[in-house]
Order: sequence, then structure tokens, then C-alpha cells
Amino acid sequence: MLPPPAEHLKADETGIARAADLLRQGLQVAFPTETVYGLGADAQNAAAVAGVFAAKGRPTFNPLIVHVADLAGAQAIAKFDEIALTLAQNLWPGPLTLVLPLRADAGISDLVTAGLPTIAIRVPKHSLAQRLLADFGGGIAAPSANPSGKVSPTRADHVLEELGDKISAVLDGGPCPVGVESTIVGFDPDPILLREGGVSAEDLATVLGHPIGDRHPTQGQVTAPGQLVSHYATNAGLRLNAQAAKPGEVMLGFGAVAGDLNLSPTADLTEAAANLFEYLRELDKRPNMGIAVAPIPSHGLGAAINDRLGRAAAERP
Ligand code: TXA
Ligand code: MG
Repeated sequence: MLPPPAEHLKADETGIARAADLLRQGLQVAFPTETVYGLGADAQNAAAVAGVFAAKGRPTFNPLIVHVADLAGAQAIAKFDEIALTLAQNLWPGPLTLVLPLRADAGISDLVTAGLPTIAIRVPKHSLAQRLLADFGGGIAAPSANPSGKVSPTRADHVLEELGDKISAVLDGGPCPVGVESTIVGFDPDPILLREGGVSAEDLATVLGHPIGDRHPTQGQVTAPGQLVSHYATNAGLRLNAQAAKPGEVMLGFGAVAGDLNLSPTADLTEAAANLFEYLRELDKRPNMGIAVAPIPSHGLGAAINDRLGRAAAERP
């Protein structure tokens, strides 16, 4: 027998209450954050978290981000030093994930951390995510709500198309305003940028008072999927820094470089980030066509956009 299709929940009290209830039952529910849709499960329930890995087809050694309602909720799970506290106080709620030492008494399932002594944690800004967290009352473990290795979803329909027969529900909050995943910062013990994302390196430098260090090559005993070279893959091949499409290609434009779709005709990087995954999906639907992509400047959110494009363009294993 086929499983029932995912419930498509509205962004109202009833929808939020239903989503929280399904999470309490140990089921998997996709919900919007300001970055992308997450596939959530109760972070304390190993079976619920295992269901997330199963739905995504994700290798289980990849740890998940835990979403909490506020800083106090995060402090119950992870240990903050002064710098981590400064980052959290200035940039939460928002698209920033901190990788911090896990508290022994946090009650988080080992599957969430893949047995690591650290945990990735964030307080999302999206009002629906906030309301869901408040109703649920605990931490929600959630990777992006896409099959492993594919482009992250920025609309409820993306989730329904790809995971609709594998999860219990999607809470529909419309398009995600930021459109690229959160920035991930670890500590070595100085802060280091583990993944570019919705908070720019410039914004981190403003809060820290100095530029943030880069990930070192030896850092990360973790094979983080967001750190694999080929990730966020489209079916079509990608050609970056293109000025025009060649025969057999569709074009993703930016600014004055026109295309079949243009990430931002006014060259606004925030708008481009919000459109990125949706437009890649759209162009990927044209059969047997490659995708040529206009050059994107690398400042601000452009760094995260170029990081994702580079991974989508990389040779597949
Ligand atoms: O914006 C986002 O971050 C979205 C929304 C749903 O919050 N989530 C997201 O999750 O992008 P995911 O699972 O697709 O990416 C999380 C990344 C992975 O690369 C994972 O390996 C890394 O965080 N990560 C998680 N825990 C870690 C840890 N303890 N140390 C190092 N990296 C970790
Ligand atoms: Mg992901």
C-alpha cells in the first residue's frame, strides 16, 4: 500500500498546531525558514530523526542543525563562550548556524550530531518557524527538505514534488525570503567560516570586529554534505561565468547579462539569492539542455551564491 501523501498545511493556527502535533508524534514535517524549507523532526527522538535521513536518502554520518526558539533554548543544548554569545546576540534570530560544544544533559539524539561532541544550532527568524518552535516547545532537527544532494527547496511545492510521498506534512509559508542556506560558523577556538550563507562574511566581520577566519583544510572530521564538492546538483550540466548561452543551453542571467530567467535584472544580490534555487529548478526542467550562468560578484550574499553554483557545477562522483 502506498503511504498517504503529505498533508499540505496552511500558515494559520490550525496548520501550526497540526504540524507541532505531528512532530510530537515522532513524524517528519517540512516547514519554512527564512533560508530554505527544513525537514523537521523532534531532536530528542531517535526514531523521528532516523525518519528524516530515510526520507532524504541521506548518509547517516552527516549531522543535522537543531532549530530552537531563542538563545535560552540554545544555551540549554550547547555551551557558548563570549564570542559565540556575541554572534548569537547580534545575529539571531537569523540565517546563522553556530557549531558549539554539546551539553551532556541536552537530551539530543546521537543521530542528530552523528555522535560528535559538537552541535549545529540556530534560531530562525521566519515567523512561521518561530510559531512552530513555540508551539512544539523543544528543538527541531532539520536539514534542508530535499532529497540528499539535490537543490534546496524554497517553496512548499518543491517539497511536495520531491518528498510528498515520504513525509507527513508541509507547512506552507510561501517562498523563503533569503533563499540560500544559513551561514555556518565553527570555533577553533577562534570563529571560522564553515559554510557561506545568508549572513555575509562582511556582516560577521562587523560583529566580530575583524574578518572571520577560513575553514582550515584539516578541520571537519565531518564529511558535511554542504562541504562536499559536488552538492546542490541540478540534472543539467552548469557552465559558470557565461556571457551568453551556446546552442543546447538555457541561460540564467544576472544584472545586464540577460537570460531565459534573470536572478536580478537590477543586480541586487539579495534578490538573486532568493531566486537562485527556484530558477535553477525551473531551468533544469528543460530536457537535454545545459545551463549557462552569468557572472555573479562575490561580495555580500554573492559569496554564498557562487559557493552553491560552484558545487552544482562540479564533477559528479
Ligand atoms: O539554512 C539552513 O541551514 C537550512 C535550514 C533548514 O535551517 N538547513 C540546512 O541543513 O541547510 P543541512 O543539513 O542541509 O546542512 C547542514 C550542514 C551540513 O553541511 C552538516 O554536515 C553541517 O551543517 N553540520 C551539522 N552539524 C555539524 C557539526 N557538529 N560540525 C560541523 N558541521 C555540522
Ligand atoms: Mg542541504
